[in-house]
Amino acid sequence: MIRGNQAGEYGATCLYAGKKRILKNNATMDHMAAQEKEHLCLFNDLALKQSVQPTVFQPLWHIAGKGLGMFSAMMGEKAAHTCTMAVEEVIIAHYQSQLDELAFFEQTQSVRELENHIQKCQSDEMSHKDEAIALGATDHALATPLATLTKLATKGAIWLSQKI
Ligand SMILES: [Fe+2]
Ligand SMILES: [Fe+2]
Repeated sequence: MIRGNQAGEYGATCLYAGKKRILKNNATMDHMAAQEKEHLCLFNDLALKQSVQPTVFQPLWHIAGKGLGMFSAMMGEKAAHTCTMAVEEVIIAHYQSQLDELAFFEQTQSVRELENHIQKCQSDEMSHKDEAIALGATDHALATPLATLTKLATKGAIWLSQKI
């Protein structure tokens, strides 16, 4: 779980870095990007404490995240928000499935710490998704195919990162 989440939050920081390269001086993106960095720090910290190695796919997520971020932003600001909405939808559900699973674990200090981090990230991702929708995430003419592509890529990345 820690490796998957660390990979996901790393990918998120790359995604926003890609968007910010195209949409300069965008306060919403800056704010979301800062929160993704915080999320990454939380999981980096846990990975260090529990001696979890980062996924071997990290360099790929760097390129894919940045690429998808830039690509969506080049389609316009609303498409960049479509991408945010789609990623967050997958991540919110992913975090929920982890929380459901962790409820069955013995509530040790490290399990509670992981749960707290997941809850904090999940609640931020919910506000990112709501903000993206409020800013027109579903308004772009290509919103549906872009969201579908983004969700598939996100699910694939999560699946791979949890393996190795
Ligand atoms: Fe995040
Ligand atoms: Fe987010």
